[in-house]
Amino acid sequence: MLLPAAAAPARQRGRALQSALRDAVRSGRLAAGTRLPSSRELAADLGVSRGLVTEAYEQLTAEGYLRSDRGSGTWVGEAVRAGESAARDLAPRASGALVDFRPGTPDLSLFPRAAWAAAHRSVLARLPHHALGYPDPRGLPELRTALASLLTRRRGVVADPECLVVCSGVAQAMTLLGFVLRGRGLRTIGVEDPGSPEHGPLLSAAGLSMTPLPLDRDGLAMEPLRRSGAAAVATTPAHQFPTGIAYSAQRRAELLDWARAVDGLIVEDDYDGDFRYDRAPVGALQGLDPERVAYSGSVSKSLAPGLRLGWLLVPRRMRDEVVERKRTMDLGNPALDQALLADFIDRGGYDRQLRRCQRAYRERRDALVHALAAHLPGTEVSGIAAGLHIIARLPGRYGPEERLLARAARAGVALRPLSAHTAVPPAREPGEPGVRLVLGYAHLTPSDIMRGIRLLARETAD
Ligand SMILES: Cc1ncc(COP(=O)(O)O)c(C=O)c1O
Repeated sequence: MLLPAAAAPARQRGRALQSALRDAVRSGRLAAGTRLPSSRELAADLGVSRGLVTEAYEQLTAEGYLRSDRGSGTWVGEAVRAGESAARDLAPRASGALVDFRPGTPDLSLFPRAAWAAAHRSVLARLPHHALGYPDPRGLPELRTALASLLTRRRGVVADPECLVVCSGVAQAMTLLGFVLRGRGLRTIGVEDPGSPEHGPLLSAAGLSMTPLPLDRDGLAMEPLRRSGAAAVATTPAHQFPTGIAYSAQRRAELLDWARAVDGLIVEDDYDGDFRYDRAPVGALQGLDPERVAYSGSVSKSLAPGLRLGWLLVPRRMRDEVVERKRTMDLGNPALDQALLADFIDRGGYDRQLRRCQRAYRERRDALVHALAAHLPGTEVSGIAAGLHIIARLPGRYGPEERLLARAARAGVALRPLSAHTAVPPAREPGEPGVRLVLGYAHLTPSDIMRGIRLLARETAD
């Protein structure tokens, strides 16, 4: 195992020998307590100078890998524990299914690689040296300005760049707000039920406990919210995740009245608010009262979740605490990524990207609705024409849920039932129960969608 090191060019041979010996001990190939050959023997075996071996033994003895007793020999030390040899990948990925309808991912092949590379070149060419120092924890001023005007124009928010914090996705916005609310003495926060799988773990990591709150057809149901005693609530008003409803105008007004009455806070997660296929997107709730709503969004659905770039607009009264929290969490997001996004927005790249995705996703949603009607007749699709997923309610004959999921898995189709997003099971509906699925379509081509629904139909036909 040391022969390749002995064959290294003369100037690198000593280092290569030390490194090969170290690796052999670390990996356990040389077990603790093993006696090594004398430096004279090993040098002769490897065809290297004895001095090189002596030096390697001395260096590794000083580091603790080897132990030597003067005159009696050199042994592998006991202190070394073999570590993991390779980084494991814990990213949530497709299950290996032929067609994976689980929601949440955009089409990553639509990422604008060429425009992003061009932005990279232009930004690196003109960025002054000082811009590579520690950034303002709120984010680069040019990105906050670009985002403020983008969000005002596209989402109807009231965006003061001074109250805008660039962060690592909606996820970090939730964590930041969670810590600040907990620091202000809040113990519980209301969450939608069914709701986002992300909100609960993120907010509880900040020390808050969750109160699941039911929905009605207009949005979060007001009576349970009032009775809960919560003074903050996390919501997805533009396109409720996962049910796909949009909060009605009346419910938005009621929610704001509630927040004013309890001196509370509404957290608005606008995770996919850009994509609406039947009309212009409804503006964000925050635009109606920026002092009662903390608004958050990200590039995760429009560009790629792997960029981990998002934003949080906070009420002025919470701003300093949120910024301080962001500072102590990570001293701010990477400056280069922020400069890139600012450049991309300023040159119109972001608007172009949204138009491109909008066209593709509308076509895919239509393909899914048609495939369901053609191959799983009687299926009802609910939720507004928006975002990256639909809710499909399959007739009772396809159920019960466990059987359908097992059959789908057999056919190579990955599905997510609505029940996976529910904390409190809903009261049984009258008549046949049916099976409700949250079907993601944005990441699938129309032919994948058709294939997946056909496979499902074939496996469930009896
Ligand atoms: C409803 C909802 N909110 C928040 C997130 C997390 O978003 P981000 O990638 O911006 O942190 C997700 C992720 O899929 C989501 O579905």
